[in-house]
This record gives sequence, structure tokens and C-alpha cells, in this order.
Amino acid sequence: MKNHSMLTHFFFIFFLSFFLLHHITVATSTPPYIAVDNITLDCGSFDNSKATDERDWIGDMGSKYGPMEQNNESYSSEAQRQASSVESIPYSTARLSYSQFTYVFPVTPGPKFVRLYFHSAAYSGFKDFFTVKAGSYTLLRNFSASIYTDSSDEKSFVKEFCINVEKNKKLNLTFIPFTSDSIRYYAFINGIEVVSMPMDLYYTSSSSIIEGKVPVYVGQAPQFYINDSMALEMVYRLNIGGSSIPPMEDTGMFRQWSEGIKDNLLSHGTIPRDPSLELKYSKIPKYIAPEAVYLSAATMGPNRTRNSMSNLTWGFPVETGFNYLVRLHFCEIESRINVSGTRVFTIYVDYQLAEETADVISWADNSYTPYYKDYVVMIQNKGEDSHTLAIDLHPRTDATFRDAILNGVEVFKLSDPSGNLARLNMVPPQQPALAANKSKTKKTMFIAIGSGVGFLVVATLVCFLVLCKLKRTERYGSYHPRAKWWCWFWPDPYKREFSRRTASSLPGELCRYFRLDEIKTATNNFNEDLIVGAGGFGNVYKGLIEQGNIVVAIKRMKQESQQGAHEFMTEIEMLSKLRHVHLVSLIGYCNDEGEMILVYDYMTNGTLRHHLYDTPNDPLTWKQRLQICIGAARGLHYLHTCTKHPIIHRDVKTTNILLDEKWVSKVSDFGLSKMGLDNTAVSTLVKGTWGYLDPDYARRQQLTEKSDVYSFGVVMFEVLCARKALNQRLQQEERNLASWARKCIERGTISEIIDPYLMNKIAPECFKVYVELAESCVGDHGIERPTMNDVMEKLEFALELQEYAEATKDTDSKVVSFHVATANGAPWYNSVYHGQVLESSSGTELSTVNTGLSYPGLDSITTSITSQDDSSAYA
Ligand SMILES: *[C@@H]1O[C@H](CO)[C@@H](O)[C@H](O)[C@H]1NC(C)=O
Ligand SMILES: *[C@@H]1O[C@H](CO)[C@@H](O)[C@H](O)[C@H]1NC(C)=O
Ligand SMILES: *[C@@H]1O[C@H](CO)[C@@H](O)[C@H](O)[C@H]1NC(C)=O
Ligand SMILES: *[C@@H]1O[C@H](CO)[C@@H](O)[C@H](O)[C@H]1NC(C)=O
Ligand SMILES: *[C@@H]1O[C@H](CO)[C@@H](O)[C@H](O)[C@H]1NC(C)=O
Ligand SMILES: *[C@@H]1O[C@H](CO)[C@@H](O)[C@H](O)[C@H]1NC(C)=O
Ligand SMILES: *[C@@H]1O[C@H](CO)[C@@H](O)[C@H](O)[C@H]1NC(C)=O
Ligand SMILES: *[C@@H]1O[C@H](CO)[C@@H](O)[C@H](O)[C@H]1NC(C)=O
Repeated sequence: MKNHSMLTHFFFIFFLSFFLLHHITVATSTPPYIAVDNITLDCGSFDNSKATDERDWIGDMGSKYGPMEQNNESYSSEAQRQASSVESIPYSTARLSYSQFTYVFPVTPGPKFVRLYFHSAAYSGFKDFFTVKAGSYTLLRNFSASIYTDSSDEKSFVKEFCINVEKNKKLNLTFIPFTSDSIRYYAFINGIEVVSMPMDLYYTSSSSIIEGKVPVYVGQAPQFYINDSMALEMVYRLNIGGSSIPPMEDTGMFRQWSEGIKDNLLSHGTIPRDPSLELKYSKIPKYIAPEAVYLSAATMGPNRTRNSMSNLTWGFPVETGFNYLVRLHFCEIESRINVSGTRVFTIYVDYQLAEETADVISWADNSYTPYYKDYVVMIQNKGEDSHTLAIDLHPRTDATFRDAILNGVEVFKLSDPSGNLARLNMVPPQQPALAANKSKTKKTMFIAIGSGVGFLVVATLVCFLVLCKLKRTERYGSYHPRAKWWCWFWPDPYKREFSRRTASSLPGELCRYFRLDEIKTATNNFNEDLIVGAGGFGNVYKGLIEQGNIVVAIKRMKQESQQGAHEFMTEIEMLSKLRHVHLVSLIGYCNDEGEMILVYDYMTNGTLRHHLYDTPNDPLTWKQRLQICIGAARGLHYLHTCTKHPIIHRDVKTTNILLDEKWVSKVSDFGLSKMGLDNTAVSTLVKGTWGYLDPDYARRQQLTEKSDVYSFGVVMFEVLCARKALNQRLQQEERNLASWARKCIERGTISEIIDPYLMNKIAPECFKVYVELAESCVGDHGIERPTMNDVMEKLEFALELQEYAEATKDTDSKVVSFHVATANGAPWYNSVYHGQVLESSSGTELSTVNTGLSYPGLDSITTSITSQDDSSAYA
């Protein structure tokens, strides 16, 4: 008796807790489907990060998925600042390679979504051209993301595929750049997502056969099996009559549903709405589509006369030569349509009869009950590449209401029998002139900027070329030789070719080998007129390579500063792999006949130092200075984090921060001090430049990243005050800029020693953040200093404050002062800001283009180009 009651109790509690649990799970809104495999890989990134929709992305560097490479030569690239409309994760970083690389995903067997994220504009011109394979399937072939974005006006895009992974197989994604003799193409990817899906979601599983949910092969057969050996590519997914549905609001598979009324609906339509209605799922699983898809629809409206003479029509442009799966989602959401026979229509897919009598109520047994129907249609290639797949719904005259309804559409391309999903006849992008006749191209010179990384955004290039053209015509007329020379400096992405024939090179061809005679030709036999910089290590020449088509900086080591050839090669190999928008790229090297020569990108605007003081150049605006500092900080952050062991620059200074033609700052000479190739060894043990040298390092001779942070702090003061880091001519107290600035901060007089040009132009909030940051960088002890990442973020914040102040600037000119507590608690005052904040940028500002950097007037660019032959550049 007692036992019995205990048992009852036990069951009662058991069921109660089951019930509670059930309710708790429902309350936290678990999606209808939980994906076993749920991988989001942020390619080219070191870090794990959260996207704005709260999804976690893992960096591919050192992840278990790869990439596996033939030669370890792919590299990560960071986008130049991108348009705010483009998400930063995963689009701000990419993996690029001139040779094949593979990601391997060990996943559970079964069908998977594979989503490939591309954002081409930030990396390159027109030179990406590649094939993507998943195992034996060809997902994309002869594909160019930049051409794709060009034709679709979207800055970034996702390609979604469905692939069935067999038992004991891995999902391998291989990226293969197209190879050609004349042009080097690369492959790239920003992000990869792999997500499981239910067996019967799109594939024809045994349960779909039992339930009779097999697609109709329109015009050919009653059934079409989407069997496991096929791959699918999603081409359209619309929430008809409703707004777009973001991945996080999908049913657990992160599908994106587009807003579905405007673009593809070709006929008149109305959108019935009933916000209070509740769906009753009884015929299909909840994971098929989000509720929002079924809660909105398009119908024809109440005009019987018109309806009986027309169709509710959608058109979807597709590639020919493939089968397409068309899934139509239905749900009767109008209360007046509650019995079968009320709204009955005929469905045509691509002008062929697909369904004689479509009656949603009779399919679903009820109103408010979601349902879907699948059709497969072959779109023949009749000589045209593209064809508009039409979906026509035509009301039947025997129905009570002459109307039709549709709630959602998905269209997938099905792979052909050889597992191919790609169009066959795409031609690689190339500039007609270059491909056809090389001699036509000789007039255009350009600077090699970072291979693959610092490439110009196409839009920027076009803008600049247009501006350049306008400007020069206006100034000189189109035939002035100066005008031509001026335009030589706009890089042309097509001409960045380093011929493969002459290049016997290091692995990866990221770094080219030059013969000494090539270097001699390039520098006119080391002609002194071509020297653009000099230092303890030797001279820097401006050189022309590739039949005079490419301008480079050629650094020739003095014999005595050289080391063993072996060490030289090892270092070069390492340096050539470091690619970043904010690093000056090493293009090649030469070590013939005892020479050690490095070939770099040529930086049109010379060194940062050259634009700060003792210079004929126009002063840089405060915003420009901030942007230059941000770029340099990013470059250093990359050095500190891109490999397992941080690369410490050891010689951060304003002459090692170079500016390209777009005023993008790039850190140069990294890795050289370690090789003993730098010009300013302070002692055999401690290396660096006086004035920038970390006192903590000098004391303890222990080098850390924080030594670079110290030097960077000095650079920040130099940028703010426009004076030398070390000036022996000044009195003792003021000689060393870092310690002088710290004294001034303590005394509250820092605003008195800033560059007079900047007076009244720095917003106080920005000034405060900047000065505090610079001060913390030059802290006595390494551990007190911020990391380069902190520096980067604080500088970006300072820039935002400045931009904000400029945007909301007060027209009244009044002195604003503020005070902050310094580290030791002493207040200091500042009267930097006198209302008028706007910088006097006289020329064209192109700050809205992708790089986010602002460009001063073309006039000032011209002046600085004129003066850049001066030997202090590259010093
Ligand atoms: C997938 O991973 C994300 C984290 O990135 C997590 O929030 C989500 O719950 C996971 N989804 C499923 C269906 O497992
Ligand atoms: C590629 O890198 C991995 C890990 O650093 C190394 O084990 C492998 O040997 C390298 N392969 C080649 C071909 O250099
Ligand atoms: C996928 O890659 C792994 C590791 O590289 C390899 O062992 C396997 O054979 C590949 N599978 C396919 C289907 O290519
Ligand atoms: C899958 O479909 C293709 C094309 O319809 C067919 O050739 C193949 O034999 C099918 N495979 C299986 C396993 O049914
Ligand atoms: C219905 O459509 C027909 C044909 O388009 C048109 O002539 C008629 O005016 C419409 N009726 C109403 C009430 O809009
Ligand atoms: C509706 O579409 C079908 C298939 O495209 C076509 O045959 C039919 O003529 C159309 N009806 C009207 C009234 O436009
Ligand atoms: C269907 O709707 C009509 C009008 O709203 C109503 O009069 C009728 O009772 C409903 N029939 C059923 C079976 O719900
Ligand atoms: C890719 O493009 C090249 C150059 O046009 C062409 O030769 C090749 O056949 C194409 N490949 C495919 C599979 O279409």
C-alpha cells in the first residue's frame, strides 16, 4: 500500500518536472530545429568574435578546420575600412591565395547548408577568379566575386549551397585560383558557415516518399527525386508579402529570407494581413519555414473580372541548362476562406502546367495551416545564358472566389549529373588592352601596393581616375606631360603582374626574386639621382621594373651591414608572408654577387615625418593625423598578433611610417632590426632609435611588444606637437619629447606645446582621449602600457569624438576649457578648443569611399608628389 503511494508520488513529481521543463524550454523560444553542426568560420581572422546578430564566429587562424594548403602560402587580409552597410563580421577579414587551399570540416553525415560569404570590394580590383569545390561537387567555377558584385550592386553577398555528406566522409571546401600565363588570379573567402538541416527538408528522404511529398517534375514526370548525390544552390528565398527575415529568426538553420513583394512580382497583387492570427501546424514540420513566411502573402485582390483574365505572376532570372527546384509555401490567412473550393487556382511553372487545381484549404485541411508544394523544372539552354523562370497562378473559374494566394517561394538550382552547379562559359576578367596587346599599356605606370592586401577598392579607383582626369584636364590640358605623369601614380589593378617567366621565387611567389641586372636596369645602375632615402644600412632608390611599368623602392644594403645569406633568406621568407593594408609590402629581393637588396612598394607620399615639421609640405589636418595613427597602430597590432610569437618592430618612428598615394599609412622596416639591417643600432645589444627607445627595454634588455607601444606613444606626441622626438638643440628639460610632454601634462600646459597649426582645431573630448592614451603609452614600465589593440581602439574612439564634434560643431566661437585628473591626481587645464573645429580642407574629400580615410585636396597631393624626390623620404 505504502509502496504504491510512493510510486504515484514519484510519477507525479516526474511528470510535473517534465511539464515544467517543457514549459521552460518553450519560454526561452528554442528554434524548431537544433543543428548538430553549427560552424561559423571567420576567414583570415585570429580572433573569435561576435557578429551584430550575436552569432559567434571563430577565427580560422589555427582553427581545427584549416586551411590546409599546398604551400602554406595563403594569407589573411584585413579589409580597408568598409561601408557601414557591410557587416564587419565576417566581412572585414579574408583569406586570399594565389594557389589552392582547402578547409576540412569533420561533420556528422547528412545534408548540410554550406554558406560562403564574400565581400570583394575591400580587397582587390578585378583579379579574383577561382573555382570552389566541395568534395566532388563544383559549387562555383571560373567565378569572380568582384564581377559578381559589380553586376549586382551589392557590396557583400552570401552563396548558399546544400550538400549531403556521406558517412565517414569529411566536408572539404577547396578554393582553386584560375591559372593563366599572363595574369595571376587569386581565390579568396571571408567567411564559411556549415549548418545541418533535417534529412527531409529539401532532399527526398524515405519519409517524404511515404508521405507523398515528392516534387513534381513539371512537364516531364509525376515525380523527381532529389537524391543524396545532388548538390543544391539557393537562388531565391522570398517571404512573399512580408519583410525580410534575418538568419537568427529562421527556424534554427540561419536561412536568410528576403523581402518578397517588390522585385519579382510581375503582376498586380495585394497583401492580406491579420496580425492577430495564430498558425495551426498539422501538415508540415515547424522547421520548414519561419511562421512569418506563412503569416504574410500576396493575393490578386477582389476584382473578379480582372482576376479571371490574368495571372498572379512572379519572374526569377536564372541560368539556363539546369534543373530547378521551386518550393511554394502556402497558408490560407483570410478568415473568409475557410472551406475547400473557395480559392482554387492553377499553377504554371515556367509556362508549363504544374498543378491543375491548387486548393490550399483542401491540402492543409484547414485555414491558418501552413503547407508547401515542390516542383522541379528543367530550364533548357536554348542559346541564351539567362532565362526568366515564371511562376503563374491563375484563378479557376469554378471557384467561389476568383483569386490565388502565395506566401513564400524558394528556388534552388540542382547540380547536373557530374555534380556541377557552375555556369560553364565565364571568361576570366582582364583588361582588353593588356590581354590583347601589351604595347598599348606602356603609358600607365603604377606603384605596387601590398600584394593582394592594399589593393584599391575599385570604386575608389574609378573615382580617383575620374577626378584625376577632370583635374588634370582642368589644370594642364590633357597633353601636358606633367598631367600624364601625375596619373601614372594611380595604381591599375591589372598591371600588377610580375611575370612568372623571370620569377624563380620563394614559395608562394609572394616575394619575387630579382636578378642583379634587373635591379641595375631598374635603378639605372644605382644612379644617385634616383636615391630617395639613405641611412646607416645603405641607400634607398626609386626604381622602375616590368619595362618601366611599376615604380618600386629598392633598398640596397651596405656591405658592412650585411649578415649571412642564409639568415637573410629565412627572414625574407618570413617578411614576405606578412601582408596587411597597413604594412609596406615586400615585393622581392636580390642576393646576387654578395648584394642584399630588398624591393618594396613605392609610397608616393613618403614618410609621416616628412609631413610634420621642417617641411615644405602642407600640414596634415588633425583628422588625417588621427587616421594615419590608427593605420600605423593596426599595422603594429598585426605584427604583434599575426604569428605565434609576436613580431616586434623595434624601430617604430615617424620615418618608418610611410604614406601611400591615398594617405593610407603603412609601417615599414619591420623585421629588419632583428636582421641587423636597420640603420640606427644604439648598441650591439639594444637596438632602436634614441628618443623612441623604451627605457624599460634599455634598462632590462628584455624586448616585448610594449617597447613598440612606447615608441608609438612618442610618435603620437610627435604627431601632436610637430617636433622631433629628440632635439639636442633644446635645453635639457625639453630635449626628449616624451619626457617633456609628460612634464607638460603634469603641469597642465600640454595644450601650449602642440603644433600651432592644430590650435583650436582639436575637439576637447578627442584631445583628452588622445593625450591620455599617448601618456599611457610612454609609461615607465611595460606592464602599465596599453596593448596595440587598446591603442587602436582608443584612437578610433578619439577619431569618432572628433568627427562627432565636427558634425555638431557650434558656430559660436567661444573658448572651451576642461580639466582632467592626471595619473597622479593633479588637474590640468586645456583651452585647445575655440569653437571653429572644421579643418580647412580645400579640396575634394573622398572620405565616403571604402577606405574611410579622407583625402585632402588634389592640389596638396600634387605638391607633395613634387617634393617627394627629396632625399628625406624613406630615410
Ligand atoms: C549555433 O551557434 C550559435 C552560436 O554561434 C548559438 O547561439 C546557437 O544557439 C546555435 N544554434 C543551434 C541551432 O545549435
Ligand atoms: C605548412 O605549415 C605546417 C604548420 O606550420 C607545417 O607543418 C607544414 O610542414 C607546412 N607545409 C609546407 C609544405 O610548408
Ligand atoms: C578531405 O580532406 C581530407 C584531409 O585532407 C582527406 O583525407 C580526404 O580524403 C578529403 N576528402 C575528400 C572527399 O576530398
Ligand atoms: C540520383 O539521381 C541521379 C539523376 O537523377 C541518378 O542518375 C542517380 O542514379 C540517382 N542516385 C540514386 C542513389 O538514386
Ligand atoms: C476590375 O477590372 C476591370 C478590368 O481591369 C476594370 O475594367 C474594372 O473597372 C475593375 N473594377 C473595379 C471595381 O475596380
Ligand atoms: C497565365 O499563365 C499561363 C502560363 O504562363 C499562360 O498560359 C496563360 O495564358 C496566362 N493567363 C493569362 C490570363 O494571362
Ligand atoms: C466560414 O466563414 C464564414 C464567413 O466568415 C462563416 O459564415 C462560416 O460559418 C465559416 N464556416 C466554417 C466552416 O468555419
Ligand atoms: C574557365 O575559363 C577559361 C578561360 O576562359 C576557360 O578556358 C575554361 O574552359 C573555363 N573553365 C570552365 C570549366 O568553364
